[in-house]
Amino acid sequence: MAIKRVLSGMRPSGKLHLGHFHGVLENWLKLQRESECFFFVADWHALTTEYNNPSNIQDNIKEMVIDWLSVGINPEESAVFLQSAIKEHAELHLLLSMITPLSWLERNPTYKEQTEEIKDRDLHTYGFLGYPVLQTADIIIYKADMVPVGIDQAPHLELSREITRRFNFLYGEIFPEPQTLLTETPKLLGTDGRKMSKSYNNSIFLSDPPDVIEKKILPMMTDPARQRRTDKGNPEVCPVYFLHRIYSTPETITWVEQGCKTAGIGCIECKKSLIPSIIKRLEPIQKKRTELIKNPDVVSEVINRGNAKAKQIAQETMTGVRKALKL
Ligand code: TRP
Ligand code: SF4
Repeated sequence: MAIKRVLSGMRPSGKLHLGHFHGVLENWLKLQRESECFFFVADWHALTTEYNNPSNIQDNIKEMVIDWLSVGINPEESAVFLQSAIKEHAELHLLLSMITPLSWLERNPTYKEQTEEIKDRDLHTYGFLGYPVLQTADIIIYKADMVPVGIDQAPHLELSREITRRFNFLYGEIFPEPQTLLTETPKLLGTDGRKMSKSYNNSIFLSDPPDVIEKKILPMMTDPARQRRTDKGNPEVCPVYFLHRIYSTPETITWVEQGCKTAGIGCIECKKSLIPSIIKRLEPIQKKRTELIKNPDVVSEVINRGNAKAKQIAQETMTGVRKALKL
């Protein structure tokens, strides 16, 4: 069986948190061992919502790529590149925009939700509506077979497949229809019990030093039914328990389950047993991070090499596309 090509991207959101690590990056690491991978920074996509504030994008790109490399994305195996360095994405986006019906974009649930929810800036823009068209260009320009994404991105991928089919129908079978590879994410919540998200200020970052991790875990939300030490708890509703499930040994997890349900242990005790395992797990990642920060040229070099590899494929694809469109 031929080796599959995998492509995925993230908007440059700066430092990554544990939700990104266990939800996305660990999956990338697995795919990196099995397939030919392309991982890119979607900096143009960042502008669809941050067009009024582009000043952080450069720093956010660096921080994010440093995190990718620190967890083990290996530039010898995977191409790590920057969307805006490959102008061919923009050309393909333009051509795809000719064949994408507006109704497909307007009924996109993410578009509907976000234009209603986000009130602090105007998202009724051409670029934001066309977000999935650019995303389609990102994917098919590399003729990617598989796109690993979280469930929130599934509607975009469905649109990408529709746009690809339409292109192939009109101009010939140029692109494989990209398959969505839904990433299974372990249950993990922020310190306040909501989804871990930078904007909620409830995140534990991969780069948080040990004392910060401790300061964030100790006051963390627990089962709200456990008001007093003598109240019995239910670990299944406790964000601390979800972290134990990821970081602790099976023995400790059993100890938490039993101790919590019987009020045999207190929440502080429970949290204190968690903190060192998180710190220990992040230690090698942070060590790598420190090295990379000391050698910023290494990071630029990785991106340059990834860009060169991506560029070559994108150029070849566009030669075929222009021919198919009689351009
Ligand atoms: N929309 C994706 C996100 O917000 C980022 C992205 C852009 C992407 N282009 C892509 C993901 C292509 C996968 C494939 O996370
Ligand atoms: Fe959560 Fe642990 Fe407290 Fe139970 S004992 S509520 S699992 S912190």
